Amino acid sequence: MNPAYPLSDLDSVYSPALVVYPELVRRNIARVVELAGGPARLRPHVKTHKTREIARLLLDAGVTRHKCATVAEAEMLATAGAPDVLIAYPLVGPNRGRLVELIRRFPGTTFSVLIDHPLATQRLSEAVAAAGVEVGVILDLDVGQHRTGITVGNAAADLYESAAKLPGLRPEGFQVYDGHNHQPDRADREAGVREFLAPVLALRQEVQSRGLPVPRLVCGGTPSFPVFAGLDIDGVECSPGTFVLHDAGYGGKFADLAGITPAAVLVTRVVSRPTADRVTLDLGTKAVASDPPLERRVKLLDFPEYELAGHNEEHLIVKTAEAGRYTPGDVVYALPGHVCPTVALHKEVLVSEGGKVVGRWAVAARDRVLTV
Ligand SMILES: Cc1ncc(COP(=O)(O)O)c(C=O)c1O
Repeated sequence: MNPAYPLSDLDSVYSPALVVYPELVRRNIARVVELAGGPARLRPHVKTHKTREIARLLLDAGVTRHKCATVAEAEMLATAGAPDVLIAYPLVGPNRGRLVELIRRFPGTTFSVLIDHPLATQRLSEAVAAAGVEVGVILDLDVGQHRTGITVGNAAADLYESAAKLPGLRPEGFQVYDGHNHQPDRADREAGVREFLAPVLALRQEVQSRGLPVPRLVCGGTPSFPVFAGLDIDGVECSPGTFVLHDAGYGGKFADLAGITPAAVLVTRVVSRPTADRVTLDLGTKAVASDPPLERRVKLLDFPEYELAGHNEEHLIVKTAEAGRYTPGDVVYALPGHVCPTVALHKEVLVSEGGKVVGRWAVAARDRVLTV
């Protein structure tokens, strides 16, 4: 048993299972609040945990602003009592109507959404105005990831200005998400942020000089969080997500994130040991996310030197010279390489406190549709 992840009643723990340690989650939250200088500068992303219970732990820590990527996550946050939810995604097609329904059904929650295109912004305005409601809009800026977001420049200022004139839209600021900045060295991440920040601040000034408010700058994920947290700039809201459960991918990579530790572990079992140098675990691609390269997909804990040799839907094949130590049924702990999509593979997580499984939390927002 790994001392960081005590679990005494293993006979009652099915495998593969994802086990969450709320004490470690609380610690991660407290550390991030401390680094941010208080909960008001945080807007954590819910996509990592997708659970009402962890949303409540964040609310208990004083976090009032939340970020999500899907309508289902937004609904889950609203039902957990989150007062301010940014859907950090461009909403198109029927998802616009679902947003309107959320606004109608959850008057206690203020919603906002990303914009990055004039026509889509026009359509959004038509949908909310026709329903007689209003939504906050955050201009998504492409600061180097080249995924979504409008290029920083005049067209961005014009889009923000035209959104401000459209019925039903309330301009609330910019999103500056730099998913490409994950250099291990803090100085390199800082340099990466500096590279795009000056033009973003110039854009903010330009927009403000047109008489428009830009109250928020919603910034970054977990790797650049300590950099943004250290900035003395009005309206900065840091939006890390992974930190809450953390994983083997980020864990240990960033010295300035010391104190944030993986809070979810996979319990897996040896299902076969066909040769003296191979064990096969019940930790297939349906139990742990397969987006990292095979060698970084999982980190086996307390395991002799090994190489991940293959990964199928329900099997993880591990080569180790010490396979002879294992027999079918033996439990192995593993940290996911990428916890966010791993969580989404599980209908529920087991909750461990005091070394025992004390409950189960539904991964409620793994579903695409809740009620709206
Ligand atoms: C828009 C946006 N904001 C914040 C985050 C959180 O980043 P991280 O997972 O590094 O904490 C993500 C992650 O995908 C994201 O896409």
